[in-house]
Amino acid sequence: MSKISIQKWKQFFLLSNECLSYGLELADSGLPWHAYCGAPLKRAEDLPAHQSYRCRLYSTPGRASLFFRELSVFGGDFQEESALKISYPDGIRESIFDLVEAKAEGNTLTLEFREKRHPIQLKMFYTLHDTVLERHYELTNAGTEEVTVENFASATLPLPPVIDHWRVTHLSGRWAREAVPMHHLLTEGKFVVESRTGLSGPFHVPLLALDEGNASEEAGEVYFATVLWSGNWKMVVEKNSVDYAAIHGGINEFDSSIRLHPGETFPVPVVAIGYTREGFGGMSRTLHRYQEEDLLPPGVAHRVQPMLCNTWGSFGAFVNEEKVIACARRAKEIGCELFVIDDGWQAALGDWVPDREKFPRGLEPVREEIARLGMDFGLWIEPESFEISSELYRRHPDWAMAYPNCEPLRKVRDDVGRPRVSVMLNLAKKEVARYLKEAIGNLVRTFRLGYLKLDMNCYFTAPGGAERVWIDYARNLDWIFQSISREFPHLLLENCASGGSRVSLQMTRAFGRINRSDNQDALDVLKLHEGFTFLNLPRMAGGACHISDSMVHINRRQTPLKFQAYCGMLGSLACGKDLARCSAGELAEIRRYVELYKKVRPIVQLGDLYRLVSAFDHPYAVYEYVTKDRSEALVFVLGMSMQFGDKIRAFRVRGLDPDAVYRVESFGQSTPEWSRDYEPSTPISGRAAAQIGIQTGLVGDFDCRILHLVKLKKTGPTA
Ligand code: DGJ
Repeated sequence: MSKISIQKWKQFFLLSNECLSYGLELADSGLPWHAYCGAPLKRAEDLPAHQSYRCRLYSTPGRASLFFRELSVFGGDFQEESALKISYPDGIRESIFDLVEAKAEGNTLTLEFREKRHPIQLKMFYTLHDTVLERHYELTNAGTEEVTVENFASATLPLPPVIDHWRVTHLSGRWAREAVPMHHLLTEGKFVVESRTGLSGPFHVPLLALDEGNASEEAGEVYFATVLWSGNWKMVVEKNSVDYAAIHGGINEFDSSIRLHPGETFPVPVVAIGYTREGFGGMSRTLHRYQEEDLLPPGVAHRVQPMLCNTWGSFGAFVNEEKVIACARRAKEIGCELFVIDDGWQAALGDWVPDREKFPRGLEPVREEIARLGMDFGLWIEPESFEISSELYRRHPDWAMAYPNCEPLRKVRDDVGRPRVSVMLNLAKKEVARYLKEAIGNLVRTFRLGYLKLDMNCYFTAPGGAERVWIDYARNLDWIFQSISREFPHLLLENCASGGSRVSLQMTRAFGRINRSDNQDALDVLKLHEGFTFLNLPRMAGGACHISDSMVHINRRQTPLKFQAYCGMLGSLACGKDLARCSAGELAEIRRYVELYKKVRPIVQLGDLYRLVSAFDHPYAVYEYVTKDRSEALVFVLGMSMQFGDKIRAFRVRGLDPDAVYRVESFGQSTPEWSRDYEPSTPISGRAAAQIGIQTGLVGDFDCRILHLVKLKKTGPTA
């Protein structure tokens, strides 16, 4: 039963779900005051009035409370970070909003305002989900003259004044190292993370977590916010001169002021706000539930991921009918359920028809063979670029992203057979977006695709040719893929941008899988998976080639097949080997891993994640997945390089039913006889597993195993 409620008392609103309460106070003039965000409260009467906020001696009276607006609007003596700033044609650049109506309906509180001196309407929305609170607003120009919106962050979230010192946690990244958690203490001033590439990444992920400096993986208060936007975004944490801190987040105003035309409404994207007492692990589980319950398309939300074979790791772009069919036959033998042809099948970027040299009979014979083998068929596309040699470019050179009267910037790739010279399509133009939506829909229909990988391999260059390029591009991209996802509800879409360069929960509304990284070095995966799962559901951790040596060039490291497979099973496993060239022994070995994957994936992919030991702190990582009913758990123990004869410490196993006893079995035990002492074999209660922990052994390099805990029976209070 949902525990969502919206209470009103005098001028106060208290919005609560099972994870957090959020309080605000309506103001006689101006936007509401922020009253509270944190652990669930019961009474709106307890919310503090804005006058109670104190500020430093000698500073202007009321300055502290200015800092506690629900949206920091430029004006008066407020000079801090502005979430919203509008310039009017009469020269006024401040806004004063008066409340018109406050309405609570279902799970949403809507507050409507009118600007005092100009015909501008503002509607703020607060929508409660079971786990998080979503905030966004719409600005409407009800006048006859254009206004310019210079700042348009979606929300301000003042942080609780009871905490003095804050630590900020964010994810920093780049190609092959997409999301590494970073922690910094916040001092007076601003901490800014943002994207200016036109994609949401890869240098930062749109997520910020704030704690008092003592939250750990499993304990401690964490406040967090994430912007649901796949283009340029910005998040700022500000600690001001009166010692209060606030987060602002939304679309990045970089190179993007908005001319709001008469009659136009501009909706800003959602910022989801959450709170937990269960540390960073609790934050992730909250965000994972939000994705499962509220964001993922219903057709893929509760489904396990297929075992996939992708051609990128084996053939690069050098695919052809013969190679693909030979590989697909073997893929079936090892247990694959989906066969994907990656880059190289197409006539050209932009011309999404088969290359007749590589596939003289088109893709139909391949598709038929894959169907006959009983696998789903998937394709790769990079629809946001087109080659200058393509038919599409010949017909529509004006669709390229470029400044007026300038040539578009060309990107040259020479790892794909012939030098590929391409430019970006300008998706900010509606006709381009419409064309792509049709073209992609046709492709799905023609080849009866079960899977489609969207790739994107450049940052925006020369972003001209449309009024709001950065913003409309992201909106149109959303529109294309959410429409495709609605039209083909069972189609699995993979979000890829040179690996994981476009990760945001907005993409999760259409995409059920993400290329976590092109870096499939299994050792690096141990760390990448940690950062990835801070925000994303573990089961979304995809990519083309977990089982493969194709990415060896990244670190020049070879890893055993077993280690590759076990690390791949932390998410959604894919094989990227040229299977037709594998020995019978290798195939048999991979088949065993695929069988194991099918056995463990319901727990990994539909369960809850606990990151028990971090590879950033130890020469091994331990990840645990627990079924929602706590009847089973899997503990992945994955060693990098053990040294000095060290043994791994016992680790606490989380999330089990304390009053139940679990049988423990081990998959993948391959270490010599002497390490068997460390194999847990006697049943253990959930309580003891959480307190005493479990001991297991790892030796040498790349040793790994999976412990499977299965609930035996209820044992009552003695357990
Ligand atoms: C970059 C992607 O991340 C890879 O997985 C692969 O699809 C290549 N592009 C293809 O060009």
